[in-house]
Amino acid sequence: MPKHRQRGRFITLEGGEGAGKTTNMAYIATRLRATGLTVVETREPGGAPLAEAIRGLLLDASNNSMHPDTELLLMFAARSQHLHERVYPAIARGDWVLCDRFTDATYAYQGGGRQLDMQRIAQLEAWVQQEFQPCRTLLFDLPVELGLKRAGERGALDRFEREELAFFERVREVYLQRAKAFPDRFRVLDASEALAAVRARLDRLIDELLDV
Ligand SMILES: Nc1ncnc2c1ncn2[C@@H]1O[C@H](COP(=O)(O)OP(=O)(O)O)[C@@H](O)[C@H]1O
Ligand SMILES: [Mg+2]
Repeated sequence: MPKHRQRGRFITLEGGEGAGKTTNMAYIATRLRATGLTVVETREPGGAPLAEAIRGLLLDASNNSMHPDTELLLMFAARSQHLHERVYPAIARGDWVLCDRFTDATYAYQGGGRQLDMQRIAQLEAWVQQEFQPCRTLLFDLPVELGLKRAGERGALDRFEREELAFFERVREVYLQRAKAFPDRFRVLDASEALAAVRARLDRLIDELLDV
């Protein structure tokens, strides 16, 4: 049996609004399943019933008085539930888990966007996840304006999508800084390209994952 079938993997998709994370997750899952792997597709915040309820609170644009600390704690509360209820059991079974956003998004949005203390995020990360980290993180990077234009065509804006341009520039910057800081874990994709080009790059990255 090939080595990659013997143990579960946790792969995260990251990037700003409209970068193509959701569009491409299904594509990656299909390609992995074609090799015989069992693949779980999930997302954060959310991915388990209680965590999805917290997601509702976080994205609801009418919750316009939420303190940034409250937002950060809700993110990690949702994450704790998702990890224990869904992610850890799947990995223990040997499944591959694809997750649309994870803790890098907390650094980017709450650390970069909201400008909360990165150390505080690191403390919560250590508390909630201990040493647990994604095996691979695919960062869909594109200019903020292009991403917002794509996301805007998707429908009503959620609580984060209503932020100002500078907020999303900080989000992008932190994502790119983290990709640089963790080069073994991250792969950066140019998400401004046409979908076919993005998928050609994804094909190579999927082959790389299956080879390891
Ligand atoms: N490479 C691409 N070129 C053009 N449009 C794209 C591309 N990738 C995604 N889209 C479109 O942009 C919108 C946002 O994509 P989505 O996958 O929802 O982004 P995200 O989940 O990262 O916010 C969707 O309407 C999608 O069809
Ligand atoms: Mg999405």
